[in-house]
Amino acid sequence: MLIRRIKCLGFLGVRYNSSHYVTTPIFYVNAAPHIGHLYSAVIADAHCRYQRLKYPERKVRLCTGTDEHGTKIQQAAALHKIPVATYCDQISQRYREVFQNANILQDDFIRTTEERHKRAVAHFWRTLNSRGHIYSAAYSGWYCVSDETFLTDSQLKLDEATGTRYSLESGHPVEWTEETNYMFRLSKFQDDVIHWVKQEARIRPAKFEKILLDTLSEPLPDVSVSRPSNRVHWAIPVPDDSSQTVYVWLDALVNYLSALGYPDEKYSAFWPPAQQIIGKDILKFHGIYWPAFLIAAGLQPPGQLYVHSHWTVDGQKMSKSKQNVVNPVQAAEQYTMEGLRYFLLREGVAHSDGSQELPQHRNCILNLTQ
Ligand code: ME8
Ligand code: MG
Repeated sequence: MLIRRIKCLGFLGVRYNSSHYVTTPIFYVNAAPHIGHLYSAVIADAHCRYQRLKYPERKVRLCTGTDEHGTKIQQAAALHKIPVATYCDQISQRYREVFQNANILQDDFIRTTEERHKRAVAHFWRTLNSRGHIYSAAYSGWYCVSDETFLTDSQLKLDEATGTRYSLESGHPVEWTEETNYMFRLSKFQDDVIHWVKQEARIRPAKFEKILLDTLSEPLPDVSVSRPSNRVHWAIPVPDDSSQTVYVWLDALVNYLSALGYPDEKYSAFWPPAQQIIGKDILKFHGIYWPAFLIAAGLQPPGQLYVHSHWTVDGQKMSKSKQNVVNPVQAAEQYTMEGLRYFLLREGVAHSDGSQELPQHRNCILNLTQ
């Protein structure tokens, strides 16, 4: 209550906010962490350390964690012939250890398979539903398992030789899917999201604001927020309809709330996040879906999205699915963890990829991979 009052002093033109909540993405447990994941965590950690030094009175809170539901994880566990829950435990633990070794001062590490998170997702879903923002519909489209998203025709490229379609942005294959889903009325929130994106220092670096506004210059289609349980069983059931499970991105985004204890009132002490660190691969989800979900639920969207670009190897995004990764544990053995942290912060530039505009990145990455 008191915190709410203090926040209200904003009307005096004083930005007096004693809490400062910073998040990283929660990472898929489909493979072990690489330096790209550590990069997001190190940026968030450095930012929090700076905040703590500069504003000792401020309550700074840093959260990270793992994203453990959906088709992608089901498939990864099946490939390794390990029960999916055990598989999640093992990989999640590797993230925890890497961040611990890297001295990331996180206040919480959330897993989407935890009860506290499932409770938060169910509450969030019921809130959206009771406000009339969810409806049921027959849905068909191209689904990309690797990106866990449906894509429109303009987001696809066709390989004429094989007839296979791929995501234009990530290069991963898509599959035709027809099913009954619950839909979220994203289209109703277009103006709200545009207004949010356009606020001063909302999206940093500014080039990502432009990318979002380009997407927002076209009408937003409604978005599917559930999958049939018989297709995606490793997921949170839709409240009051066990034939459907909650779409993994809606599930994942709510982690930022569940890590604060939502829906218990205590979450409001740190809400909204001051700064959310993400890679540019997940800009659409955080820059469009996320503020729309929050506004629809009657919650405040985040203060700032800080978007960084990608570490690349031979011009390709370093990624778990491409297996062209630099293992942070090995890199730290060679260069020390402090050395690796320094390298990531000193050589990383948020607005550009490693190998494109800063050739020295490539050399460093190549040294690291040797
Ligand atoms: O997308 N360079 O998880 P994810 C820099 N679970 N950063 C990189 C990177 C690279 N090559 N590769 C990954 C997901 N990252 C979802 C997120 S959030 C509610 C759900 C970092 O395991 C970067 O932060 O694919 C990127 O956005 C994130 O890892 C994606 O991790
Ligand atoms: Mg990814």
